[in-house]
Amino acid sequence: MIDIRSDTVTGPTPAMRKAMAEADVGDDVYGDDPTVNKLEELGADILGKEASVFVPSGTFGNQLALFTWCRRGTEVILGEEAHIIVHEAGAASVIAGVQTRTIPAPDGVLTAAALKQRLRKQDLHAPATSLICLENAHSMGNVVSLAAMDEVRKTADQWKLPVHLDGARIFNAAAALNTDAKNIAARADSVMFCLSKGLCAPVGSLLAGTKDFVKEARLKRKIMGGGMRQAGILAAAGIIALTEQRSHLAEDHARAKKMAASLAHIKGVAVNSNAVDINMVFFSFPPASDPKQEARIMEIFAKRNILINPPDGGLFRFVTHYWIGDTELEAILDASREAFVL
Ligand SMILES: Cc1ncc(COP(=O)(O)O)c(C=O)c1O
Repeated sequence: MIDIRSDTVTGPTPAMRKAMAEADVGDDVYGDDPTVNKLEELGADILGKEASVFVPSGTFGNQLALFTWCRRGTEVILGEEAHIIVHEAGAASVIAGVQTRTIPAPDGVLTAAALKQRLRKQDLHAPATSLICLENAHSMGNVVSLAAMDEVRKTADQWKLPVHLDGARIFNAAAALNTDAKNIAARADSVMFCLSKGLCAPVGSLLAGTKDFVKEARLKRKIMGGGMRQAGILAAAGIIALTEQRSHLAEDHARAKKMAASLAHIKGVAVNSNAVDINMVFFSFPPASDPKQEARIMEIFAKRNILINPPDGGLFRFVTHYWIGDTELEAILDASREAFVL
């Protein structure tokens, strides 16, 4: 089966399975799990942060950041396509008890001008802004430049506000920007990043920041039911994700670019070529808006044992990852040439 619905589908590598089987474990709620402790130190070190805390998922890490930074009833500012607001099931209102306020953020970029229109101080009628959230790489396939991140940082500093980065794919962003992930992380006060997705660990994310922030997040993680006991079994795979898998992301990006170029040659396919910065290719094929055509397309891929998602808002999204090599890419392109015919 070739699965290009997302990079979240990546199964663990053989090295991860071995490390998981052999992991040295303890009770992490007591702080006794050596493998979790090692992962948390390694993750913080790679991002240039003082500390990090292991959490079950990216959504958990993002929501834990909001819960840790924000007083209930305050307001979080973020781009209108941010994962935190579009794909986290309204969690910010349930867990942190905050109000979210979006600004237009084409390609994931929040400008100082747009931010300043939304930031506000507490008064009798208005909630205070308590946090600004960024996303890099963006789940629409873009990376945000360091200069654009600087603009947000500067505005946040003027307003004495913290910045949280949803860095689910921070290492994809680092590879695409040809920079160290530390340079991206330095523009934010807290960073969530995923060990699953393109890095192939089966479970887990880290939330990084200062020692004080992480101490408070650890307490809030317990409140959220995220105190996991012998979690070293999972952390062992996370360590391999960080030590062995990061270097492969650039190959996924190269294959996505190759895929985008080939798809663009198919008549009727319009690739969103502005957004092929990482491992995702977004494209439209207008006939697929007809349910019969959509079903025909899905069937062609299914018959060839290729799993794709149906178009969302008129856009197909194909995602490359560690388990998509050159042979798989050729099979996907062959199926595409059969499926996308006018
Ligand atoms: C940008 C971004 N942030 C957060 C998440 C949430 O991660 P999880 O699925 O582990 O909750 C995702 C998931 O795909 C994502 O793309």
